[in-house]
Amino acid sequence: KMKTFIDNLMKQMTLDEKLGQLNLPGAGDIVTGQAGNTDIAKKIREGKVGGLFNIKGVEKIREVQKLAVEQSRLKIPLIFGMDVIHGYQTVFPIPLGLSATWDMKAIERSAQIAAAEASADGISWTFSPMVDIARDPRWGRMAEGSGEDPFLGGAIAKAMVRGYQGNDLKANNTIMSCVKHYALYGAAEAGRDYNTTDMSRHRMYNEYFYPYKAAVEAGVGSVMASFNEVDGVPATANKWLMTDVLRKQWGFGGFVVTDYTGINEMIDHGIGDLQTVTARALDAGIDMDMVGEGMVSTLTKSLKEGKISQAQIDAACRRILEAKYKLGLFEDPYRYCDVTRPAKEVYTAANRKEARSIAAQSFVLLKNEGNVLPLKRGGKIALVGPLADNRENMPGTWSVAADFSKAISVLEGLKAVAGPNTEILFAKGSNLDYDAKFEENAGMFGKSLRRDNRPSAQQIAEALEVASKADVIVAAVGESAEMSGEASSRSNIEIPQAQKDLLKALKATGKPVVVVLFAGRSMAITEEAAAYPAILNVWFPGSEAGYAIGDVLFGDVNPSGKLSATWPQNVGQVPLFYNHKNTGRPLPAGQWFQKFRSNYLDVSNDPLYPFGFGLSYTTFTYGNMKLSSQSLKGNQTLTASIDITNNGKVTGKEVVQLYIRDIVGSTTRPVAELKGFEKIELQPGETKTVSFSITPELLKFYNYDLKYDWEAGDFDIMIGGNSKDVQKQRVNWQK
Ligand code: IFM
Repeated sequence: KMKTFIDNLMKQMTLDEKLGQLNLPGAGDIVTGQAGNTDIAKKIREGKVGGLFNIKGVEKIREVQKLAVEQSRLKIPLIFGMDVIHGYQTVFPIPLGLSATWDMKAIERSAQIAAAEASADGISWTFSPMVDIARDPRWGRMAEGSGEDPFLGGAIAKAMVRGYQGNDLKANNTIMSCVKHYALYGAAEAGRDYNTTDMSRHRMYNEYFYPYKAAVEAGVGSVMASFNEVDGVPATANKWLMTDVLRKQWGFGGFVVTDYTGINEMIDHGIGDLQTVTARALDAGIDMDMVGEGMVSTLTKSLKEGKISQAQIDAACRRILEAKYKLGLFEDPYRYCDVTRPAKEVYTAANRKEARSIAAQSFVLLKNEGNVLPLKRGGKIALVGPLADNRENMPGTWSVAADFSKAISVLEGLKAVAGPNTEILFAKGSNLDYDAKFEENAGMFGKSLRRDNRPSAQQIAEALEVASKADVIVAAVGESAEMSGEASSRSNIEIPQAQKDLLKALKATGKPVVVVLFAGRSMAITEEAAAYPAILNVWFPGSEAGYAIGDVLFGDVNPSGKLSATWPQNVGQVPLFYNHKNTGRPLPAGQWFQKFRSNYLDVSNDPLYPFGFGLSYTTFTYGNMKLSSQSLKGNQTLTASIDITNNGKVTGKEVVQLYIRDIVGSTTRPVAELKGFEKIELQPGETKTVSFSITPELLKFYNYDLKYDWEAGDFDIMIGGNSKDVQKQRVNWQK
């Protein structure tokens, strides 16, 4: 049915109208790149626009759709895209935070709510999930992904696609998902955004490709090309990547859109002028051109000159039309344009409640010496820090639809959750940092939050004054939202110095200091980890931030988040990740340095906090791991099980993690790979058995010839509460 419909439509289309479908201008309501588009309404009437993004508000979108379906010759509806990344107006934690929940249902639910709200406001397509593996926390966009691990990242990619698209793309509360940034964008050299990437195909297939492929398997409707080069060719012009791998090997049937001016930027990459790079993009397998308008302006000439074929243009046009068809836009172009919906469906009390609960689940308790946390109600708490009374900072990067003025600050949240008998005394204590490294108001999503002075003597004095009256100090410190996200790479991943100064002054009071840390990346907080008794990492928790922080600080919610990326001791260790190779000169376990071994003179190889790490207000004991067999053959299933007991006083959730090491391979194999996880809840005193079923499918990898198979031999099976503290047993598995 779809084919016949599109065949008929395409028969009526001129070349210009076909090229129009490939054109995706930005409306400019939200700024997510440097260039802009003009005369959009005129172009829509002329059939020269296929979709529009960065336009906000259902009434406006309805008007624009009207132009397309009433005033253009063929009345083809537009698709409306937006960066709905971690919620719409109800904002969930940044994706890195979401990933720390290790809770696929919660993550899927967050995407479902985001889709429902966005669709109520006119949006039919989101540029999410971002699944780029990030192992270098200097890279600011680490905030937008799921951390360093392929397996966890793949599971999250699937959950998000399911959440956005549901079972029925034509339902008016689902939207089309776009997995990005294909491919390897997270491997930018030196963590500098947009920088070159270069890696072996072996690593691509075994590690970096995994989550994109998972999204394709989950039926993602579209893919966004990345800015970086892959194998010496920008992804946007890389035919091997876009056609051979994506379409032929993985069977992707949706459409591929460039990133913002991704085609035009290939001129600066140095592979040709606009006509050349545009023809190369189409030839590679790109279907839609975001902002740059190279396709509408040069492909006619390239066709005449025989540089591309009519069949290539038709294929791209068809894919865009198919997406619109799948969304039901031909049946009802106003499917997402019911102007009565936003008031009923956006930023509802029910959605906010879920955001609050998911945010609390994303927090990672990094330290809690002497059980400083949870805080007791009834006394006096000094809340200090530049992020304490700061609504704008709470939603975090890529909260393009959020009303920042409505976000719940830590101060508000703490007061509300503490109740009437607890006094919360507040002082700002310091600015965010000393020096502005970029212009004031350079922010993409609102006003810049940078303040650039040293904490003044007066600010510190105010903080000490409130501290002196309190039983405990809560310091809300860390990164501002704009220190992570796009074009926000940092070479220093520590807490900004101005805030460190404040922390030191607070420590000198001798009162317990609880650090509530805001972070859009893995941070190097070695100094603070040694100095302060409690550290709760809250990422950027979203619109309900303050409430969720209050819930966890007062123990109404027991923290259960676990890191989805390693936290290094210092920036010099990065990239540092748990699933590394052994090398020919590994450092013996437990040692810090040996000459002629792979290590540093000035820091051990250990992370500050390993992948998978996170504490709870209770303690979990792991019994002895049991394996159903130690010698297996062919397609048998190995069951690895373990008893976990909550031997504390409160109910808690634990993420039980399964890792496998393939001891000998035809190529080198990582020292451990996550292959399973389960989040369980245990009442005080309760024991549960967690069992993992391991089949040879979990042992497969891409060998040197990129053949996906498993190899017979020994495997270490490891189970634990994080990637470092595991129990291990060896099995032998023959073909
Ligand atoms: O979706 C984004 C992408 O992640 C970065 N460049 C701009 C796009 C559209 O806003």
